Amino acid sequence: MSTQAALKPDPTATFLDILGNDADELASKLQDLQRRIFPPKAKKSIRRLTSAEAAKFIGVTEGYLRQIAADGKVPLSEGAANGRRTYSVEDINAIREMLDSGAKPTRRYSPRRQEGEKLQIISVINFKGGSAKTTTTAHLVQYLALKGYRVLAIDLDPQASLSTLFGLQPETDVGENETLYGAIRYDDQRVDVTDIIRSTYLPGLHVIPGHLELMEFETTTPMAKEGQTFFARMAGALGPVADEYDVVVVDCPPNLGYLTMTALCAASAVLITVHPQMLDVLSMAQFLRMTTDLLSTIHKVRPQSDYDWMGYLVTRYEPNDTPQNQMVGFLRSLFGPRLLTNAMLKSTAIADAGLTKQTLYDVEKQRFNKGTYDRALESVDLVNGEIEALLRRTWGRV
Ligand SMILES: Nc1ncnc2c1ncn2[C@@H]1O[C@H](COP(=O)(O)OP(=O)(O)OP(=O)(O)O)[C@@H](O)[C@H]1O
Ligand SMILES: [Mg+2]
Repeated sequence: MSTQAALKPDPTATFLDILGNDADELASKLQDLQRRIFPPKAKKSIRRLTSAEAAKFIGVTEGYLRQIAADGKVPLSEGAANGRRTYSVEDINAIREMLDSGAKPTRRYSPRRQEGEKLQIISVINFKGGSAKTTTTAHLVQYLALKGYRVLAIDLDPQASLSTLFGLQPETDVGENETLYGAIRYDDQRVDVTDIIRSTYLPGLHVIPGHLELMEFETTTPMAKEGQTFFARMAGALGPVADEYDVVVVDCPPNLGYLTMTALCAASAVLITVHPQMLDVLSMAQFLRMTTDLLSTIHKVRPQSDYDWMGYLVTRYEPNDTPQNQMVGFLRSLFGPRLLTNAMLKSTAIADAGLTKQTLYDVEKQRFNKGTYDRALESVDLVNGEIEALLRRTWGRV
């Protein structure tokens, strides 16, 4: 039997037919699998936080938190009030508000931006697929919302992985004109950004979901009359809600198309995720060259103010892997402080949580070996804390 015949169950079919069939079968079987792991009706929620976590997010000691919970001045959920000492996000927000409402507050617990502090927009980029852009974005926006910031997460990837992490099924939950495309499209179907922003199960965190329709921006831009100004589309669309958020984080697709470019032009800061392996770093080098070339061309037409900060973040890092360690050393010698001090450790807790479309802040800890979970969360918190410090420094708070 010839190789071709062996690969074709039906000799009259072309390989294009077979590819199409494979695509359909794969999609349907994957949907079944997903339904079993995470049924469409499954409601997402953030887990309750321990008193150590709650105290850290509020910025008080655990002892003081216990005192607040015990004296009953703030109405708290049962778990917090009855001595089991676990706190809901609502509890944390209520305590923060109570602390800030004192007659003469000595410090401010809400970190929301104040007059003169501008909205910060972080674009998370790298065209290497799988460099953990989405995982990084999901954990960062949840962390910032838990800290009390008003956060908008934008899923700019037609694959919509970030949206699924927030409990949205792109095929069923995201309709036409409900992605950012709706607000940046060129024709008269354009909608206001307020029509596409959704709240999430986490107070303080809003999301603009992704869906395949985002691809339309890539195909319509070269043909549209206003297409020459594609780079200004995202910044323009966000204008009306700029005062309602402290931080916007954009999860970019793994390519350098018009979507990524408009995100880079709207951004006040860029975060480049990099897995410390040779092929990934080689690909990043090309990506950086192409990005800077494209941005320089755009800046000739539309001068842009400089980014406030930029950072390279090492992701899926295995500290015991010698080649990875050497690569991190190499990146540090090249980039110095632009390489974030903390790295996102590779962890089965992060990967397994991802399988059920969750983050470390969503999953119940009991699902994992305690050491595994705690190590992963510590690395994620350190990375997020470092990014928060960059945001605060930009606002002039030190
Ligand atoms: N720290 C980590 N430890 C273990 N697994 C991880 C970690 N970070 C990410 N992953 C896993 O790696 C895979 C790729 O991550 P992710 O989807 O975040 O990458 P991405 O850069 O957004 O990919 P794409 O370019 O396709 O958008 C996912 O399965 C995710 O669960
Ligand atoms: Mg992604």
